[in-house]
Amino acid sequence: MRRIENHPVLGPDSSAEVGITVDGREVIAREGDSVAVALWADGQKLLRRSKTGQPRGMYCGIGHCFECRLLVTGDDGSNVSVRSCLTPVRQDMCITTEAGE
Ligand code: FES
Repeated sequence: MRRIENHPVLGPDSSAEVGITVDGREVIAREGDSVAVALWADGQKLLRRSKTGQPRGMYCGIGHCFECRLLVTGDDGSNVSVRSCLTPVRQDMCITTEAGE
């Protein structure tokens, strides 16, 4: 995990850990992270591929470009496409990227 654990101005990061599942893999995020930030901190920048196979990931970071779309499994088991830069993590969240191999 790549994070600033003890910022020189803001001090140490004391946010709670949040367990999420990404493509079947357990990832530890931090409370307050967006999904995109949690994945970025975990080293995963590739979130999906375009129709022509080009890699896509977080670009604008503010919800405008839609490049960071991925699927989140809802409580009813259905997958919902979300912009990961705007979607906060929550405990036991199940995420599916469309990054491919
Ligand atoms: S990075 Fe642009 S909408 Fe998420």
